[in-house]
Parts: sequence; structure tokens; C-alpha cells
Amino acid sequence: MQMPAAATVVEKAMFGRFSRRQFAKLAGICSLGMAATAVNSEDREVKPAPDAHSPAGFPDGFLWGTATSAYQIEGAVDADGRGRSIWDVFAHTPGKIADGSNADRAADHYHRYKEDVGLIKALGARAYRFSIAWPRVFPEGTGAPNPKGLDFYDRLLDELLGNGIEPYATLYHWDLPQPLQDRFGGWQSSETSRAFADYAGYVAGRLSDRVKSIFTVNECSRFVNLGYGAGIDAPGLKLPPAAVNQVRHHVALGHGLAVQAIRAQGRAGTRVGPAEDIAACLPAIATAANVRAAEIAMRELNAGFLGVILEGKYTDGYLEHAGKDAPKHSAEELKIISSPVDFVGLNIYAPQFYVVAADRAPGFAVLPLPASFPHMDSEWLKVGPETIYWLPRLAAKVWNIDTLYISENGASALDKSAVDGKVYDTDRIMYLRNYLMQLQRAVAEGVPVRGYFLWSLMDNFEWIDGYKKRFGLYHVDFDTQVRTPKLSASFYREIIESNAVV
Ligand code: FCB
Repeated sequence: MQMPAAATVVEKAMFGRFSRRQFAKLAGICSLGMAATAVNSEDREVKPAPDAHSPAGFPDGFLWGTATSAYQIEGAVDADGRGRSIWDVFAHTPGKIADGSNADRAADHYHRYKEDVGLIKALGARAYRFSIAWPRVFPEGTGAPNPKGLDFYDRLLDELLGNGIEPYATLYHWDLPQPLQDRFGGWQSSETSRAFADYAGYVAGRLSDRVKSIFTVNECSRFVNLGYGAGIDAPGLKLPPAAVNQVRHHVALGHGLAVQAIRAQGRAGTRVGPAEDIAACLPAIATAANVRAAEIAMRELNAGFLGVILEGKYTDGYLEHAGKDAPKHSAEELKIISSPVDFVGLNIYAPQFYVVAADRAPGFAVLPLPASFPHMDSEWLKVGPETIYWLPRLAAKVWNIDTLYISENGASALDKSAVDGKVYDTDRIMYLRNYLMQLQRAVAEGVPVRGYFLWSLMDNFEWIDGYKKRFGLYHVDFDTQVRTPKLSASFYREIIESNAVV
């Protein structure tokens, strides 16, 4: 019974907001509730904010960070010998991006990185996940490196470290050098897997004196399914299932070869792992049988990438389901793919598959998602806070993972500036607060999540949505390039400072 809340509403009611009739009705409801529930006046006292020792606190040393990616923020696509990526070509193809835009300028981070590091510092964040643009470092994808391209990341790293911010670098956030697409069909060929490893080894050799943690590939599932299967993302191909499965296998191989190259050429102790948007399976109702079903779903629906990396084999279920379309692979490749990693990054945004137990194989059934499921400004971004509780918990259990990061989590919102010029994004705060409460619940139960990277530090080029969807803690005016903190920036700063959900 929530009657005390209704009573508070009445006490605080702005009389003008309610008609007489509504007010009388509300007052009536409240008096009934009061009679029925003996309200204790202490219930109305404001509880003190939680601190690190309260139930909503995170453990000491929990890593709070923000995230971005190169193509989405850097701009400067012609600067200092950078080559073309598949996203440059795709974004310049008419009809591909919702608002007809591209990321030629984006948030101009290439020139404003010092200011942007200042924005991270102002949040009090201790870590920053950014990506390195492969076509800056190897304009042709392979061959001779472009020293000026890497110099940019040298400058960025020095700025981060000088401000006490720990860099987490991602090697592949979708901006494949176009020459590799032209020559090999991109990830359709294992030539690209090998080129990726060469690039990874080179970067580790040059930067691992300062970058201690490297994510190999960002969201294999998304760029393979949408880029090579549905033709929605770059490179815009619509290949048949067998070819898509082979592409995914080549990405997994590229990841494994990159892990080996980083171990060989990076400093000892350099940590490496993938950042994956795993298929988000969660129990519709958390009975023991449904939780078990969600574990099975988690393993089977992620068998093509995270599963093969962590298990060194494709599951029987995956191979049976794929049938003649299963990826061609050798035992040697599986060994490379499953080279041990130091952590697993999970990008978690929305629930996808609410599952229940089923008697028949594979032991789970997926429920349809109702059309009325609430979402943020992006329609795909359904609001299911418990997703960030279940996914780490299930993944840790299924694959026995001991170090997890939430490599991305965040929300799009409409973000209109108010008359005072500020952005009061209470909807984003609502999303973040609820997700972080659930993350706290997972961590408090011992799920090994060590850090959280909020997507995104600032508004940026949101792929096929162009500049129409904003995910930033900082608002970016793309005409003037002025950055303004949104209310969510203050919210996140409070979280970081108190190491608890506020
Ligand atoms: C993820 C991407 C990231 C950003 C967020 C909103 O899928 O990794 O670049 O677009 O979604």
C-alpha cells in the first residue's frame, strides 16, 4: 500500500493543478489510506544519503569511467595522413545516415582533446575508455605505419595520465581501413584477422608503457549482424547466413591473434579482453528453473563470439542450429581464439530476451517483447534496469569469469536546452540511477564487476542515427563545438564522489 505517498502528494499539492473534484477524490483516498495503515510520522523523514558503507555503496577501488570511440568524436578525418575507414565511405553514401550527416567534424575531439580530458576530470572519473582509429595508424590497413597518426594518441595518453585518469584503449570500434574492405572484403577474409593482429601488436609495442588495459574488438555481434548481415551499418553488406557466420569467426580469430600479438609485443602485465554486446538474456520471473534457462540461453545465444573465446569451441547447439551454414574452422584456430584473456567487457543497454524454462531442447523459450515496453529516445533502448544485474551474474557463472567491466552503459534522451541554457536530463538520470542500483546489487552479491564506463562522455555521431540521438553527459553544440554539462554530469559526479548510488 502506497497511501503515505498519496498523503504527501495531497500535503504538497499545488492546488491549481487539481480540479476541485480531483482534489476531493484524492483527499478521500488518502483519508481512507490513513485509517487503514496507521502512518508513522517517522516514515516521512528523509533518509540520509547512502555512503560507501550503506547498502547502495560500491566497494573501495571500484573503477568509475566514461567511454567514447574514435569515429564518433574525433573528426579531423583528413588530418596528419589518416586513411579512409568503411564508416567514412558509408556515411558519405546518400541515404545511409538518418540526418544525412557524417563524422568529418563530429565533436572535433582531435583538436579539443585537452578540453575533453578536462571534462572527464571534472566528473572525478578515474578511467577513460577511448578507441584508436586503425586508419590513423595504418592508413592502408597494413604495411607502413603513419607516425603522425599514433602521435595523436601519444598526446592524448600524456594528457590523461597527467590528470590522473587511467586509459583503457579499444583497438577496433568499427572503423576498418577501407583498403582492407576493398582488397579482402573486410572481415570476410582471415587476411583482415591477421592485419588486425599486426596493428594490435604495433600499438601495444608503442603504447603499453602507458596503456595497461586494452579492449580488442567492440561489439562483434552488432557490427557483424548489422554490417554484414542486415546491411544497416558499414560496410552495408547483406550476406547469406553462412558468410555472416564466417565473418564472425574471422573476427573471433582476429581477436585471438591480437591477444597473442599484444602479449608478444606489449609490456609484461598488459591486460587484454573483448568488449561485447552479449545477447541480453534474463529470466522473465526469477524462479530457479528460469534462471537456469537464462544461463542456457546466455551460453547458446553468445556461442558465436564470447562463447568460443571463453570455451575454445562452438557449442553443439550452435553448430546444430547453424547446420550447413556453420563457420569453417580448424582446431588450431580455436586454440588461437581462446587465448586466455584478463577480463571481459560487457556493453549493457537493454533487455532483449526474457526467457522461461522449457521442457524441450534447448531448455529455454524466449517470450515476445510487448510493443508497450518503455524505451529511451532510441527505440531499441528498452528500459530494463535488471539487465545490468543479470547479465554480469549469468556471464560470470556460465564462463567462470573473474574480472568483468561494464564497458558501456548509458542512454539517449531528447536533451532540449531550457531557457537558462541548461539541459535537465532527468530521464537519463532516471535510467542511470535504476541501472546503477541493479549493478550495485550484483556487486554486493559478489558478481566480479570491477568497473563501469558510462556511454558517453559527450554527445557524438551516433552511427546511422547521425546527430539525432544524444548520449552524452556533456551537451555538444555541433555548430560551435561548445560543451555544456547536463544535469546527468552532476549526478554522475555525485555517484563517483560518494562511490554509491545517490
Ligand atoms: C553501442 C556502441 C557505441 C554507441 C552506443 C550507443 O552499441 O558501441 O558506439 O553507439 O551503442
